[in-house]
Amino acid sequence: MAASDNVFKILFGMQSLAFIAFIIYLSQDDHAVRPLSRLSNDCTCQDKHRQELHIKAVSHSINSTRSVNQTRGPLSNCSIYDVKSRPGVVMLTSTNLGFLDVTLNMLESIKRIGVCVNTTIVAEDQKCYHYLSKRAEDDPAVHVMLTNSGGTTEKEILRSQRRPYYALFNKRQEYILAFLERGYEVLFTDVDTFWFRDPFPYFEGNFDMSMIDPRSPYPNRTEKSHYCTGFAYFKPTDVSIKFVKAWIKSMKDDLKRGRLLADQDVMNHLLRQDKPVHVNVQPLDTNIFPWGPKFYDLLEKKANYSTVMMHAASIRGHAAKVAKFKSSNMWLVNCTVEELISREN
Ligand SMILES: *[C@@H]1O[C@H](CO)[C@@H](O)[C@H](O)[C@H]1NC(C)=O
Ligand SMILES: *[C@@H]1O[C@H](CO)[C@@H](O)[C@H](O)[C@H]1NC(C)=O
Ligand SMILES: *[C@@H]1O[C@H](CO)[C@@H](O)[C@H](O)[C@H]1NC(C)=O
Ligand SMILES: *[C@@H]1O[C@H](CO)[C@@H](O)[C@H](O)[C@H]1NC(C)=O
Ligand SMILES: *[C@@H]1O[C@H](CO)[C@@H](O)[C@H](O)[C@H]1NC(C)=O
Ligand SMILES: *[C@@H]1O[C@H](CO)[C@@H](O)[C@H](O)[C@H]1NC(C)=O
Ligand SMILES: *[C@@H]1O[C@H](CO)[C@@H](O)[C@H](O)[C@H]1NC(C)=O
Repeated sequence: MAASDNVFKILFGMQSLAFIAFIIYLSQDDHAVRPLSRLSNDCTCQDKHRQELHIKAVSHSINSTRSVNQTRGPLSNCSIYDVKSRPGVVMLTSTNLGFLDVTLNMLESIKRIGVCVNTTIVAEDQKCYHYLSKRAEDDPAVHVMLTNSGGTTEKEILRSQRRPYYALFNKRQEYILAFLERGYEVLFTDVDTFWFRDPFPYFEGNFDMSMIDPRSPYPNRTEKSHYCTGFAYFKPTDVSIKFVKAWIKSMKDDLKRGRLLADQDVMNHLLRQDKPVHVNVQPLDTNIFPWGPKFYDLLEKKANYSTVMMHAASIRGHAAKVAKFKSSNMWLVNCTVEELISREN
């Protein structure tokens, strides 16, 4: 068993994932326990990285019988053993260079609470892909892939740029579907989330999808229900698969008719009409899974909720999100995107 642990591969069925160009083989070629790489206060990210590579090279020659099970990844602080103890579940996110720092902030929040889950990050541009795959090289929990469903710009895409903005979000359902079809439960998360506690206990029970619904009184579903796609759990049920396929088809059909709608609106429209099937949606409590403004409102009121995860939705734009995270001591990245990238080169 241990031998097959040494090299483990992300084998994506080519047929189901034809849209993903690159397949990353994560190979664990050394068994050395390595220190964590951390982004440091003064932005000496690369220096730390080098130092770490050096340590790796040295310890590689030492015959360590230490199990690969115990080697912890630099981005996740998780070992393969940790990842395997949550079988059949993947966390999925997608990002581009403009949100690289926000992505690292989320990963850091997850690492700090010690949550381990098999994570796939789909990078939407080359630079982002190169940076993240380098950082995730020796991380058994984090897999980075490059999209091939049309690489997007590295820059932040503003909400006002309707077409590319929606286009970016409307690609994600295909990533989700590919995992569902292979039988994985999928937690899709936007990168502008901050995790305080393990969310996975909230995804137990019988349901097809689980999300927050800011418009209905929790836990009831009403005709006003408008679920948020930014943090959504999918079980690989026939219903979920049918639904996600219809969701994708609906957006494609809209596009053919020259209509570009937000993925979230399309999803809610289908859910409300039970099209093509009735989906059993388990709502998440918005008090402990708040969206941006609600989180800061609760914070101001000193409300006593034990937040699980906040999603900086409705705080519009990269700069505003970062400023807001900073205002509440939730900004854990000490380098700008430019600094991160320049130190990699
Ligand atoms: C993690 O997910 C990938 C699919 O992305 C799968 O190939 C791999 O076996 C999973 N790893 C573990 C340890 O479950
Ligand atoms: C960033 O710097 C702060 C102190 O300024 C430190 O507490 C934090 O751990 C650093 N973040 C990372 C990811 O190293
Ligand atoms: C490492 O140690 C193991 C167990 O002691 C041994 O079987 C193996 O041959 C050693 N490998 C090297 C490269 O020395
Ligand atoms: C590694 O983890 C597996 C479970 O994934 C366990 O069966 C095995 O005993 C572990 N090996 C060592 C050397 O700890
Ligand atoms: C990494 O995980 C280990 C085991 O849970 C823990 O002892 C250690 O403090 C963690 N390190 C960081 C930087 O989170
Ligand atoms: C949810 O619906 C149930 C049954 O219709 C009702 O008794 C309950 O008061 C509702 N809860 C809220 C928070 O509106
Ligand atoms: C907040 O909640 C915790 C646990 O639910 C409780 O122990 C604590 O007394 C509460 N604090 C306030 C100020 O209400």
